Amino acid sequence: MTVPKLSNRLQMAANMVREGAVVADIGTDHAYLPAYLVKTGLAKRAIASDLRKGPLKNAQDTVTQFGLKDKITLRLSDGLDNIGAHEADDIVLAGMGGTLIVDILCKTPWIKDKRKRLVIQPMSHAEDVRGFLCNEGFEIIREDACIDCGRAYIAINTVYNGIKKEYSPEYLFIGALPECENGFAIIYLKKQIQRIAKKAQGLKAAGKNLQEQQRLEYLVEKMSESVEKLERRLINDKR
Ligand SMILES: C[S@@+](CC[C@H](N)C(=O)[O-])C[C@H]1O[C@@H](n2cnc3c(N)ncnc32)[C@H](O)[C@@H]1O
Repeated sequence: MTVPKLSNRLQMAANMVREGAVVADIGTDHAYLPAYLVKTGLAKRAIASDLRKGPLKNAQDTVTQFGLKDKITLRLSDGLDNIGAHEADDIVLAGMGGTLIVDILCKTPWIKDKRKRLVIQPMSHAEDVRGFLCNEGFEIIREDACIDCGRAYIAINTVYNGIKKEYSPEYLFIGALPECENGFAIIYLKKQIQRIAKKAQGLKAAGKNLQEQQRLEYLVEKMSESVEKLERRLINDKR
């Protein structure tokens, strides 16, 4: 094996890294992503970082297996705490919950730099990530979606531009997915709609919190409109 084979989810994140970048992969676990990027020559060098020693040992095994000791540095770090601003161009945060990702970003002021790019692949609470990005002056450059082992995932590519974005409530749940060129965003969004609709139905059945129920119903309506639009566009693009 000369290059690690990535899952569809990690491949989606890898596709967002800039060619020639020095990459920091936060919460790396097996370091498959940095090993792939460096081994294929897409990244110049990488830092594979994790909060815990066990995952970092996994990362070390991958680095040894692919002979990448000179190009990948292993680093024990809570988020970006032990990563210097000068050490990475592109920062990947994949496979963690959106709330944890926001916590990590919140305590790292040096990510507010127009030269850096963030690749964020949240496993949940993508709306919290988008809220943070919009409120803190990050521009969402693009989003992508994929299916991996029967489950839909998304990734967000973003850069700081210092402009706080005004957004609708539904934007936090949809983001730039309507601009996707593949139908996986539809599958992902439909799943999110189902989840929110179920919550709204639960509140309705319990006769609780009418205001929250109406907010969720509004989200379902707006997200469904967005999905229909995207479906129509993708059908037209195919013609
Ligand atoms: C599910 S794994 C994801 C591995 C890989 N990034 C992926 O997407 O397949 C999550 C990893 O994040 C690490 N992690 C959790 N909290 C972290 C933190 N605050 N800082 C750095 N790593 C963290 C965990 O130790 C674990 O190895």
